Amino acid sequence: MNNLNKPRGTQDIYPPCSLLYQNVQKIISKLLQLNNFQPVIFPTFESTELFTNSLGSTTDIIHKEMFVFPDRKGRSLALRPEGTASVARLVCENKLIQEGYPLKFYYWANFFRYERPQKGRYREFWQLGVELINAQGIFADYQLLKLVADIFYDLGIKNFIFSLNYLGNSETKENYKGELKKFIKAKDIDLCEKCQERYQNNPLRILDCSVCKKKTSFPSYKKAWNKKDREHVNKLDKLLKKFNLPYNYDYNLVRGLDYYTGLVFEISLGKDKALLGGGRYDKLYQEIGNIDVPALGFAIGIERLVNYLEISGLSSKLLADFNRVDVFFFLSVSEFYPEVLEWEEKLKNYSLTTDYNLETRKLKNLSKIINNYQPRLLIILGEKELKTKKILVKDCLKKKDFFVEKKELIKWIIKKISKW
Ligand code: HAM
Repeated sequence: MNNLNKPRGTQDIYPPCSLLYQNVQKIISKLLQLNNFQPVIFPTFESTELFTNSLGSTTDIIHKEMFVFPDRKGRSLALRPEGTASVARLVCENKLIQEGYPLKFYYWANFFRYERPQKGRYREFWQLGVELINAQGIFADYQLLKLVADIFYDLGIKNFIFSLNYLGNSETKENYKGELKKFIKAKDIDLCEKCQERYQNNPLRILDCSVCKKKTSFPSYKKAWNKKDREHVNKLDKLLKKFNLPYNYDYNLVRGLDYYTGLVFEISLGKDKALLGGGRYDKLYQEIGNIDVPALGFAIGIERLVNYLEISGLSSKLLADFNRVDVFFFLSVSEFYPEVLEWEEKLKNYSLTTDYNLETRKLKNLSKIINNYQPRLLIILGEKELKTKKILVKDCLKKKDFFVEKKELIKWIIKKISKW
């Protein structure tokens, strides 16, 4: 099997972990629907240019992390490294913008970055991305942060806190870059090799360098804010406080992609890498479609989220709530199949999960069957049940046995369930 193993940095996801992925998706999708967000689906690969033109030529993604390949006609294509640029392309290409109306989109998608694989960092990973497009002002910022908070609360995560920073428009950004360069020069900070390069072409990224961060505390971004920036931050603060959203400002927070303007945010839990990141990107649509469209969004790394749910013990509740077979029919004689197929159909009308063994088996190890299927009710159908009118129903949760009339079975199950 050696040559056929999965490629480095990719993962196989199977039960019970795949069930956790599915349940997380169910819970979040419900919340997105309640908040009037709609799904979009875009290609797994796009023309390489889409990303090189929009993510920032000096970012790690463009520099060294994209999976790029030529098609048969020599056109350069790239596996999507993130979703915001693809959504912007989708919106522009399909002319979806209507003046005065926001677009509220989300996507569940796998992304590809050629990174050094380690825990929480893969070459193929999943994100839930949310984009609020053609949306300006304080309530758009608030709506997105509130959605994130509700997602975390609904998953049972209570101990999170937003890290926020406000990058302002290009003028504020340039101001800060100037301040930062002046500071580095005046203090004669011994930048690492990579940051010496960044000093010339993308100084903001120096703030995110794990090596240089330790050498000094860089100037606060707050210093670069103008009156408008300060007003925006003050208004947002008031809303976040009024609705009890937990946040802190990190005046050195920058993100790994260059398209951000205005508010940026992340959430990390414990010492782990950021679980989620996002912010406002008011210039991206100009780069991609030559139109001015203010927008903002975020993406949650699903592997990191699921890993947190597992290590914090929250996953067991999420799994227990969803993944039981309600009724399992165990047949050790084939005569019962026609009846079981009819019963199954009836129970499905009550949204019950049912299953049965596809080939008859001798009932040898009951606890193995119960462990494997985790049924609420196990119905045993063997030689004995052929001869009598009653059949054995085991309530596996309450560990009780019942003998139920065959013709009353469905009625009995429905009555039983109404008490669960
Ligand atoms: P990002 O910070 O590059 O932002 O990624 C968002 C999240 O995806 C990260 O916080 C992390 O949880 C997860 N992630 C990123 N790279 C990896 C990896 N190699 N392995 C596992 N998980 C990973 C974006 O992608 C932006 N498009 C977010 C956004 C949407 N901004 C505005 N709208």
